[in-house]
Amino acid sequence: MTQDLAPLVQDPSAGRSTGWWRSAVIYQVYVRSFADSDGDGVGDLRGARDRLPHLADLGVDAVWLTPFYASPQADGGYDVADYRAVDPLFGELSDADGLVREAHRLGLRVIVDIVPNHTSDQHAWFRAALADRHGGPARERYHFRPGRGESGQWPPNDWESVFGGPAWTRTAGADGAPGEWYLHLFAPEQPDLNWDHPEVAREFASVLRFWLDLGVDGFRVDVAHGMVKAAGLPDIGRGEQAKMIGTQVLPFFDQDGVHEIHRSWRRLLDSYDGERIGVAEAWAPTSERLALYVRPDELHQAFNFQFLRCPWGAAAMREVIDESLAATAAVGAPATWVLSNHDVVRHTTRYGGGERGLRRARAAALLMLALPGSAYVYQGEELGLPEVEDLPDEARQDPAFLRGRGARARGGVPHGNEGAERSGQDGTRDGCRVPIPWSGTTAPYGFGPGTSWLPQPAQWRELSVEAQSGDPRSTLELYRSALALRRELPGLGDGPMSWLPAPEGVLALSRPGFVCTLNTLAAEAELPVPGRPVLATAPLEFGGGAVRVPAEACVWWAV
Ligand code: NOJ
Repeated sequence: MTQDLAPLVQDPSAGRSTGWWRSAVIYQVYVRSFADSDGDGVGDLRGARDRLPHLADLGVDAVWLTPFYASPQADGGYDVADYRAVDPLFGELSDADGLVREAHRLGLRVIVDIVPNHTSDQHAWFRAALADRHGGPARERYHFRPGRGESGQWPPNDWESVFGGPAWTRTAGADGAPGEWYLHLFAPEQPDLNWDHPEVAREFASVLRFWLDLGVDGFRVDVAHGMVKAAGLPDIGRGEQAKMIGTQVLPFFDQDGVHEIHRSWRRLLDSYDGERIGVAEAWAPTSERLALYVRPDELHQAFNFQFLRCPWGAAAMREVIDESLAATAAVGAPATWVLSNHDVVRHTTRYGGGERGLRRARAAALLMLALPGSAYVYQGEELGLPEVEDLPDEARQDPAFLRGRGARARGGVPHGNEGAERSGQDGTRDGCRVPIPWSGTTAPYGFGPGTSWLPQPAQWRELSVEAQSGDPRSTLELYRSALALRRELPGLGDGPMSWLPAPEGVLALSRPGFVCTLNTLAAEAELPVPGRPVLATAPLEFGGGAVRVPAEACVWWAV
């Protein structure tokens, strides 16, 4: 018997499957807003490296770095001109190498972004494409098409850019004569690659190897649902397409063909030791379709945007949790949980802002960290930072803003991104990207020796890492305690979960040796005591064998 079981026992030190990612808490570093080492007002890799001890202290398992590659920064670095080079704004290749080594020394894994749906318009391939003749071979790596109409004056189809306006831009020849159009699902500076071209797949495999050889532990795959377009690039037949993203399969999003690419990437990741992972940023209409991205031979995780978009409330949250767990279990993948990232309004503000928003955000964080699977923490949420809603227009850099509301405010041509405004890519993404406060009483609050590329509110001096450290009521200490407990309590992370009976408006979930109670109501809830309280977002009152859980509070119990 013992002999039969032996091969199933996995020894992490032997470098075989540890499944580290099934339970991992992964911290998102938005590099340009995390820490600035050289005083130019923009965060960089050295700055991030110097601050890694904060993340080790916080108790996360891994760090995801947003793009730091050579880029004209038309979309915060999601417009890559050279996938193997570090942009001078963020440092040098040796800084990336140093950061990865230092993270590993501290026991943190490192995930980097890969942007395969589009390049920058300054990428050597696109420049060559523009220089080539109509229909020339250099154009085949992108989607170039003649326009419609007598003189080709109309875009080749009716697709709209996620950032607003048509998804096509017309080129001009050296003599200024208008020519073919090229496809860009995002900004015009982000031309879409043609993944039917064999060189594209070959090049990305080589880029993945480049970073894997440098030691990274995985990739967050940008627009993982977008690389394959329906044959013939058919019209959609109606406008306001941004509103349809994530609600249905579109000829440019969630096409079945993308899965073949993810399968080939999985084979590549598996050919490296140490369990390197792929995380899909994919917008799919249902949890079931999203789960297709994390089948055993595809990527390891996919961001759970259903959870992020779920409104506050016990019933809605329970439904999303159940759906997510069922869909991922069906393919054997861990669920993931995320409340904020660099593209959405920070959840403190989404939940109503002010004291109430913060109360709910703290409670939601404990709920998230109690759920089975892996969780993502966006820089600054551990400080309870709100969205900055009053940034001056001149400071904003979000291309969606510059094409939509910004263009109108500046008297420019409105590109009509009203649909995008509702979908979340509403051009106000700068408000969640404001550099985070570390210490001190004046801006930039320890972010760097100079200024910060977006202005920080004066109130943030009270929210700095320094101001919150050691204060047991602070959000930072709440996250630290939660993450420490998550490591200590064996029932947390990956594993089973079930619901306990609870009154309306209250969620009670049970994990082995553990219970989490969330009161979503605006009033206190009186509940039976399930065990010993180990962490709570607000003070509890006990009496008569019951506990009174304050409004919009969450409690962790050891059972
Ligand atoms: C998703 C990224 O998170 C976002 O910031 C970016 O604008 C788009 N993909 C396009 O790359």
